[in-house]
Amino acid sequence: MTALQVEVWRGAAEGRLQRYEVPRYPSQTVLDVVTHIQRKLDPTLAYRYACRVGMCGSCAMTVNGAPRWTCRTHVDKVARHGRLELRPLRNLPVIRDLVTDMRSFFDKWERAGGRFEGASTKSDDFARVRPDSAARQAADAGIECIGCGVCYAACDVVNWNRDYLGPAALNRAWTLVNDPRDTARVARLRAIAGDAGCHACHTHMSCTERCPTHISPTASIAGLKRAVAKAALEGKL
Ligand code: SF4
Ligand code: SF4
Ligand code: FES
Repeated sequence: MTALQVEVWRGAAEGRLQRYEVPRYPSQTVLDVVTHIQRKLDPTLAYRYACRVGMCGSCAMTVNGAPRWTCRTHVDKVARHGRLELRPLRNLPVIRDLVTDMRSFFDKWERAGGRFEGASTKSDDFARVRPDSAARQAADAGIECIGCGVCYAACDVVNWNRDYLGPAALNRAWTLVNDPRDTARVARLRAIAGDAGCHACHTHMSCTERCPTHISPTASIAGLKRAVAKAALEGKL
């Protein structure tokens, strides 16, 4: 059996890479590698995961320089000459080893108005939203976000401007702007129209290239820019 040489970030803001040797096997994921290290070689290694099937968004790390969900990333796809370098996600404070503090990421969802605001009660009939309507299709295109933070780590504008709301929060806002049941559209557009909002995006596409669920935050942000401009022309902002 061949072995994989793995270097893993240990520490917090200050730290170092520590080397481990991990046996390789077919269909091995990067999360399998980290789990092997923690269970067999070094129980003090801190990392985060929950579902192992690409649903929960908690296992993202920097793998050989790029942010990825690790439970669905096969070693064969990313190892270079039998080597892996694992670091925590960029643009977030490190708590320990591979675990980042996601509070600033989710606080920005709140700042972007990322919560549905409805007016219906349980005695109202179901809302009927046609699946082929443009708004429904725009919302559906961004709705499968698992909150993994990969796009946020990939975004250079977040790196330059820590106030920038970032691709995931803005994508979430776009899904709600397109939800005809939501009642907070104008407040949400105000929330994302400022200097730290959609206009700060430089359309680099890194978020879209890296998103593991094939969402395009870049397209969502472009939609927000159009919606803000239209609302401003209509005197609503
Ligand atoms: S398209 Fe915008 S949000 Fe996405 S990575 Fe580029 S600057 Fe960041
Ligand atoms: S948009 Fe994609 S990369 Fe960003 S948090 Fe959601 S699932 Fe992850
Ligand atoms: S462990 Fe849940 S997405 Fe990877």
